[in-house]
Amino acid sequence: MNIGVPKEIKNNENRVGITPAGASLLIQAGHEVYVEAHAGEGSGITDEEFLAVGAHIVNSAKEAWSKEMVIKVKEPLPEEYGFFREDLILFTYLHLAAEPALTEALIQSNTTAIAYETVQVGKELPLLRPMSEVAGRRGTIVAATQLEKHRGGRGILLSGVPGVDRGHVVILGGGSAGVSAARMAIGLGARVTLLEISEDRMRYLEDIFDKSVTILKSNPLNIERVLRNADVLISTILIPGAKADKIVTEAMVQQMPKGSVIIDISIDQGGSVETIDRVTTHDDPVYTKFGVVHYSVANMPGAVPRTSTFALTNATITYAERIATKGVKRALLDDPSLLLGLNVAKGKVTYKAIADAFGYAYYDPYTVLTQE
Ligand SMILES: NC(=O)c1ccc[n+]([C@@H]2O[C@H](COP(=O)([O-])OP(=O)(O)OC[C@H]3O[C@@H](n4cnc5c(N)ncnc54)[C@H](O)[C@@H]3O)[C@@H](O)[C@H]2O)c1
Repeated sequence: MNIGVPKEIKNNENRVGITPAGASLLIQAGHEVYVEAHAGEGSGITDEEFLAVGAHIVNSAKEAWSKEMVIKVKEPLPEEYGFFREDLILFTYLHLAAEPALTEALIQSNTTAIAYETVQVGKELPLLRPMSEVAGRRGTIVAATQLEKHRGGRGILLSGVPGVDRGHVVILGGGSAGVSAARMAIGLGARVTLLEISEDRMRYLEDIFDKSVTILKSNPLNIERVLRNADVLISTILIPGAKADKIVTEAMVQQMPKGSVIIDISIDQGGSVETIDRVTTHDDPVYTKFGVVHYSVANMPGAVPRTSTFALTNATITYAERIATKGVKRALLDDPSLLLGLNVAKGKVTYKAIADAFGYAYYDPYTVLTQE
């Protein structure tokens, strides 16, 4: 199969849809990879590195988009909708529930659109996980920095020093991002409390962290109690497909120590903290409310594009290879996890939450693929 990798055009997006190692794997399997010139630059990958593994460099987005399958990172922008067509397989993050115009463009063009974020194995979202791992780890690092006095923080070193208390990091949600944030906080020497709502998950967390993290049931009383003496709150809660609940109320934030730091990683699902009323950016990431520093950047992995690009390709490449080798129809029908990633095909919406979000009819993906 001929596979195109266009340069990302979203503002400040420095990731790219494939690494040289990923391209090499596809080429070894008998496919051709066409990368748009300079597409890897933001991630520190040169055109020469792609050429060295046998990929082709093409000089325009149009050329990269003209291939049978396009592998990307972010959802296409309006200036890219013109590249959609019936025989195109699009494999990327789509987040269609927030993108009515993109959804309509995919339907009208009969594009086969597979979204990374809805590929699902059991309860896991394997193509979302790498970015949650990046965001969780960064969350702790950002918090540690924001705690410094000259940045408006309490003036606390998370590790403490001999004879002086360690900082207290409170994490809400113990999924991919929460576990990653906790690991980093333990590594920095902080005292860590993690609140989780799922009974099964709490037991798993107790097992993996042993006594290095205090695991508590997530409920309003426990959240309020631990936040009274938290230096850092990192919220990572997620109910798949739903808007995040505002489980941290304004009253709870008012009782947090002055100069403490809130990182709301769940901001990309609407946010989980009542006092977070805006999405912030890497250029201007924090604001202070009730004396507490608030950080609500929705694309935290964007600050570390090189790590994020490699982590993303590690996760996506086996699926991409299967689509290319088996053909999209066979690959989807053979793998129920990948089939869940199919959002739009043959002009029909094949993912229920997206159909419901915009009032489209929902079509079962299996039926859509098997009917002629
Ligand atoms: N801001 C960013 O740049 C960025 C980057 C990557 C991921 N994210 C977001 O981070 C969030 C977490 O992602 P993830 O992959 O870790 O999800 P996940 O599904 O692995 O984990 C979420 C956890 O939250 C728990 N939970 C749900 N409701 C809760 C509650 N009320 N109290 C305590 N725990 C609760 C769930 O049981 C689950 O264990 C998602 O919204 C994701 O989109 C944000």
